[in-house]
Amino acid sequence: MTMKFQNPVSFASAVNLLKSGEVCAFPTETVYGLGANAGDAQAVLKIFQTKERPRFNPLIVHCADMGMAEEIAIFSSTARHLATLWPGALTLVLPKRSNAKICGLVSAGLDTVGVRVPAHPLAQKLIRAVGLPLAAPSANPSGRLSPTSVGQVRRAFADKVAVLEGGECSAGVESTILGVEGQRVVQLRSGALTREEIEMHLGREIAIARSGAPVSAPGMMASHYAPNAKIRLNATGAKAGEAFLGFGDVSGSGPMAKNLSPAGDLAEAARNLFAHLHELDAMGANLIAVAPIPKTGLGEAINDRLLRAAAPRK
Ligand code: TXA
Ligand code: MG
Repeated sequence: MTMKFQNPVSFASAVNLLKSGEVCAFPTETVYGLGANAGDAQAVLKIFQTKERPRFNPLIVHCADMGMAEEIAIFSSTARHLATLWPGALTLVLPKRSNAKICGLVSAGLDTVGVRVPAHPLAQKLIRAVGLPLAAPSANPSGRLSPTSVGQVRRAFADKVAVLEGGECSAGVESTILGVEGQRVVQLRSGALTREEIEMHLGREIAIARSGAPVSAPGMMASHYAPNAKIRLNATGAKAGEAFLGFGDVSGSGPMAKNLSPAGDLAEAARNLFAHLHELDAMGANLIAVAPIPKTGLGEAINDRLLRAAAPRK
């Protein structure tokens, strides 16, 4: 029997659901996550089933603070220094503690675990109230657009998943994922915390994982973040029948045209990216032409998501 929830659910219901081994979607500053008790294999299995997510794709564990994170993962001095950027849009993939109360499914059988301390006040409050680390991938069916509002989560799962309301996500793209082995740092996925900010903090450059590298993050699947519509990149205008997603001066007109940031601001563009793609999809666009986006700063993550959205699908 499948439930339908009266969404959004109350904070107390969200806490009860998560404590009793159910899944519940919740807001973070990046995108909405689909949470479950990371120590409960049955609960974590429900995340994979709800999303139809391949079992080999590990989940990020969300902690309230460094203390909780240290019960799960082993921090090198470099990892510890990077963790001073928490709370925020940064996930560290670290060696998993042998006694971590995290079920094997969370890390897909790997001996590492992805950990993040989110900054969103409601995410913080939720993890503290449940009192346990929460495994949470983005709250979208596997391979589809990530959600940055309650409405998008509700539509994606037709209210068969409980959702806690926390407004629109302020960053709009997922966390940056860094693999840390000793003092070596590799960016596995670009995200809302820019590589420039991380390199400034570390005082050195970091490596970028090649796609197809053995240790990879998901985003690492070529086709991901796919809207229903097909995507054409680096477009200077819309052809007949195309919707248009502009940036800065490169804009279109009419009902099927949106602009990520008329002012050419990358933070605004990141915040609007998934929301605009969701909206153009909902309008029934078959093809979305997208203006060129600068590749620096947050543009790295925006271009990464757009490239995957445009990749050929199975
Ligand atoms: O901003 C975010 O990161 C959001 C919010 C909800 O926190 N979460 C998110 O989760 O984007 P998800 O599952 O959509 O992407 C997380 C990626 C996975 O695709 C996975 O490949 C990578 O993190 N990951 C997690 N644990 C890993 C590990 N042990 N080794 C390598 N990659 C890992
Ligand atoms: Mg995702």
